[in-house]
Order: sequence, then C-alpha cells, then structure tokens
Amino acid sequence: MRFLLTGGAGYIGSHTCVCLLEAGHEVVVLDNFINSCPESIRRVEKITGKKVALYEGDCCDEAFVNRVLDEQPIDAAVHFAGLKAVGESVSIPLRYYQNNLGATLTLCKCLAAHNVKRIVFSSSATVYGDSKIVPMSENLPMGSCTNPYGWTKWMSERILQDAAFADPEWSVMLLRYFNPVGAHESGLIGEDPIGMPNNLMPLICRAAGGKLPMLSVFGSDYDTPDGTCVRDYIHVMDLANGHLKALEYAVSHKGVEIVNLGTGEGYSVLQMIRTFEEANDLKLPWRMADRRPGDIAASYSNPAKAADLLGWKATHTLNDMCRDAWHWQTLNPNGYRA
Ligand code: WQD
Repeated sequence: MRFLLTGGAGYIGSHTCVCLLEAGHEVVVLDNFINSCPESIRRVEKITGKKVALYEGDCCDEAFVNRVLDEQPIDAAVHFAGLKAVGESVSIPLRYYQNNLGATLTLCKCLAAHNVKRIVFSSSATVYGDSKIVPMSENLPMGSCTNPYGWTKWMSERILQDAAFADPEWSVMLLRYFNPVGAHESGLIGEDPIGMPNNLMPLICRAAGGKLPMLSVFGSDYDTPDGTCVRDYIHVMDLANGHLKALEYAVSHKGVEIVNLGTGEGYSVLQMIRTFEEANDLKLPWRMADRRPGDIAASYSNPAKAADLLGWKATHTLNDMCRDAWHWQTLNPNGYRA
C-alpha cells in the first residue's frame, strides 16, 4: 500500500518511513523542513534501498496538499507535521494553534476530498495532563494540558473524533506517544533538534559529547523511588513499528481508536543517566538542580490495548535506547548538518 507521511522527514517520521518501506509499502513524504532536513530522507533511502516520493511544502497549504494527493493516490495518511517545542509554544501560542490545528484541518479536508478517510495521528501522553494516576490507560479522562503545544494535540484529537462521529466512513487512530528516544541501529538517522534541545536524551548526548558542560537533573524531591522524575521511554523504532501496526488496522476498520505507545515501564532520570553510562562505558557530567516548572513526578503507560488491538509490544530495552542514541550522536555530532 501507499501511505502519506506529513512531517515524514522528522525524527519519528523518518524512522516510520524505514519501517513502512521495509514492510513492503510505498511512502510519500510531505515536509516543509521547518524542524527537519531532506538529508534524513536520503538516509532513509540508503538504509532501505527504496525510493521515497518527497514533496517540500506546508501541510496548511490546501492547494499543495491537494496536488500531492492528486499525484499520489494513497491508502491512508500518518499526520506527524506540527510544531512541537513545549517551551516555544508558551511564548508564541497563536503560531502553534494556527499551525498545528490548521495542518490537521487542512489535511482532513484534502483527504476527504480524495475519499481517503483514514488517518493515524501523532498524539502524545501530554494529553493526560498532570494526572497523578499511573499507569495511564486510554480511558483515563483527558487532562488539563500545561502548555499550548499539549493543547494542540488535545484539540486535534477532538477534531478527529468529531469528524469520525459525523462521518462513520472515517478510520482514526490516535497514537499517544510516551517519551520517544534512541535511533535506528545504523546510526544514519536519529533525533536532530534545532537549537538547544529541551528533552533529556538529546541533552544527555550533548553532555556525553562535551557540547554541554553539565547536565542538570531537574528535581530530586519528587515522590518517586529516587526522588527524580519517572518517564516511560520508548525506542523510536518500537514507536515506528507501532505506526505500521496502526496503519494495518486503520485500512481494515472504521471508527476511532485511541492507543498508548509506551513500554509500560517507568525509569527515573538517575536510572537513565546510569544506564547511559553503563551502555556506552562513559561518565556523564551532571548535577542536581531545581525542579523544572510543569514537570509531573511520574508518567508511564498501560500498554495493554496496543497489544490486544494491534498485536504490538515494545521490544527494545533502556540499554538499547541509550546505545543507539549515542551511536547516532557519535556518527553525527552536528546532526544532519555536516
Ligand atoms: C524527561 C525528564 C525532566 C532535561 C516531553 C514533552 C512531551 C513529549 C515528550 C512530545 C523530566 C528531566 C530533562 C534535563 C532533566 N513530547 N530532565 N534534565 O518533559 O517528559 O515530555 O517530551 O509529545 O510533550 O513535554 O520529556 O525529555 O523533557 O524530560 O532532569 O536537562 O527528564 O525533568 O523529568 P517530558 P523530557
């Protein structure tokens, strides 16, 4: 089958391309490269030995999206495209709402116009808000998000559910990612944040590579086993495979399914640091620091529904995630920009 991946040149998108191509599917990528690089697609083609139909443009541009769908009849779409920096979303909220919600609305309109009413949406555990209930199951009420980025995920889920409620022909998969980390085993593709990242793993890699003199551990007084925050880290290749399973489900079912993509295991910041040091035989420079505003103590998934509905389960270990993240970093110290 042929799938459209909006934002397919990005971190999770590029790894999903590899998964879909290796499963024998065709891939069409639509990306404006605002937070990605065409080089990632060249690397995807190198890994798989297959071609990707790549279109540079904006998912909010209706004429452009319609042209892509005219030229590339598809079976379903995976919607990754969106601005995703939590901190930035607080400072420019209107840009985030305009871009992220506009992209979702435009894509749905164009898909419906081409009678392709199947979409897999890149959502996030952030929609659970500051829930104190763990593990988080899909029937946990959506919470109050702590930033405009999270609200755009929350609102896009709402838009897609309402579209499917009004038109039962729609097949909608809402995939709630926990904390994606790691890289493809080849080290050819990986996470390449523009500017200073906010997320833990890219910062650990910068500290390991000497680009960050000291890693700060945000808070040691949380109600967790070692006082540092607990998260459900999931290898990006497991996440990619979850999209393959979700697409296989979406093309043979109608209606809405919400699915967590996580391991169901929670690891603390200190556990991540120790595992990274052991996996890569190095010492990280780190210090304890104050809490980061907005962080919750613990977030990890109940992954049972993904196993029951999609036959999907994460298989990579925290050690795999740390080893593969560092492998990508050492081969690409400046990311895709040589
Ligand atoms: C993980 C833990 C930090 C940096 C974010 C987004 C969320 C989702 C996943 C998209 C936290 C701690 C971090 C550092 C630290 N993205 N930390 N020192 O905050 O769980 O979720 O990424 O959907 O929307 O909010 O991930 O990697 O930022 O932080 O101690 O220098 O690491 O406090 O406990 P988070 P993260």
